[in-house]
Amino acid sequence: MNTKNNNSRLAEKIQRLKEQRNAIVLVHNYQIGEVQDIADYIGDSLRLSQTASRTDADVIVFCGVRFMAETASILCPDKKVIMPDINAGCPMADMITREGLKILKGKHPEAIVVGYVNTPSEVKTEIDVCCTSGNATEVIESLKDIEKIIFVPDKYLAHYVSEKTNRDFVIWNGYCPTHVKILPEDILRQKKAHVKAKVVVHPECTPLVTQLADEVLSTNGMCAYAKASESPEIIVGTEIGLLHRLRKENPGKKFYPASEQAICPTMKLTTLEKVLWCLENMEYEVKITDEIRLRAKRAVDRMLEVK
Ligand code: 13P
Ligand code: SF4
Repeated sequence: MNTKNNNSRLAEKIQRLKEQRNAIVLVHNYQIGEVQDIADYIGDSLRLSQTASRTDADVIVFCGVRFMAETASILCPDKKVIMPDINAGCPMADMITREGLKILKGKHPEAIVVGYVNTPSEVKTEIDVCCTSGNATEVIESLKDIEKIIFVPDKYLAHYVSEKTNRDFVIWNGYCPTHVKILPEDILRQKKAHVKAKVVVHPECTPLVTQLADEVLSTNGMCAYAKASESPEIIVGTEIGLLHRLRKENPGKKFYPASEQAICPTMKLTTLEKVLWCLENMEYEVKITDEIRLRAKRAVDRMLEVK
């Protein structure tokens, strides 16, 4: 059987099981194309959390990385949240620990902690308000009267938002190992090859890269920009999985990856076979203890109130 036929056979089986289980499949923009194509909803981490918080499905199949599935579980304790591959973690999220954050808070007792949603649930218990790359600026702007802000764990997102809002933060030394692979020379090379193309990059990129971009956007922000832009050519500085969605939604436009090296290995662990297996066996379930969930939920809820 060829790959296309095999994928459509798997997609049909997944569809049937989804109906039987009253399940919804949420897919992040960096997943492989075949998985994106069976999504009930595809999006960035902000939109995926919002969709999870509103769904009336009984089961959420989360095709992304663990912190995203945990956020869905924090928001929907009565639903079964399952992941096709339990090893799909986020290396940036693993760069911070609850203990480490407690020590930093001890040094700045008056500070408010803003935490990127790319953090484990236990770390979220020590965060006052979460943010994503799609709403970090708005979250900071909502903290008008706050003098001191600790921003964790992504130092590059912190740097970008600090410049944009003209506020200083105490930062954590975390970063995304995939986005740092995008170098300024990659952008310059692609600009030279496609002189009329616009450049969009993710705020997890280094400052030397973000300063070369026309726009710095979350993955959903890039999708909206691509639709609205009059430019027929766009250089995309983020994980290359997003190109599948951009090309599918904008068949008349051309998209070039800033770097072919920008591949997040854990985002690529999910396959159609694993999605089917996950629905057949109702595993791997992501469950958060009530003690952690209730404390972590305050920070996620506070973010969702902002945007
Ligand atoms: P988005 O919120 O833009 O989807 O990004 C999530 C992520 O993990 C980026 O690396
Ligand atoms: Fe984490 Fe980076 Fe992968 Fe996003 S791309 S999931 S931040 S390692």
